[in-house]
Amino acid sequence: MIKPIVKFGAAVLEQPTRFVEKFDAELAKLTEDMFESMYAARGVGLAAPQIGLNLNLAVIDVTTGKNPEAKLVLANPTITHSEGEQREEEGCLSIPGFRGNVLRPAFVTVRAQDVTGKEFEMKGEGLLARAFCHEIDHLHGILFLTHLSMLKRDLIRRKIRKLSKAGEW
Ligand code: NI
Repeated sequence: MIKPIVKFGAAVLEQPTRFVEKFDAELAKLTEDMFESMYAARGVGLAAPQIGLNLNLAVIDVTTGKNPEAKLVLANPTITHSEGEQREEEGCLSIPGFRGNVLRPAFVTVRAQDVTGKEFEMKGEGLLARAFCHEIDHLHGILFLTHLSMLKRDLIRRKIRKLSKAGEW
């Protein structure tokens, strides 16, 4: 089931999340809904707070559905290693219409639990490394705007406020 995506301004997007403790059928269904919602919105990653849930859970697919094996569920993820740098334009499904250059590590290793609760470690580079960082930030209540210059961040915030007042956000 496709869930509506929560937009910037909602408190749930800027709060730390609760650990996933139950790895049951309900969690499996939730991750499927998250993939479905992410594909519908043409994103490569989606964190639980973006559908209004305070939960340490994210899904990623940098192939946008082209390769089923690329589907990743990250429950309670942490970054165990990062190196190098990449600066690319980044966006977020919760901040539609706005993008900005964000400096991220080029290589990132993540430790997480899968949908069954099994722990795994995975290395990513390029877009996948960026997605790891972006989604794990979400789980700490951090949005990509935080990584932009103050000038750029304030500009985006002002524009969103204007859209909000006009009922267009
Ligand atoms: Ni995002």
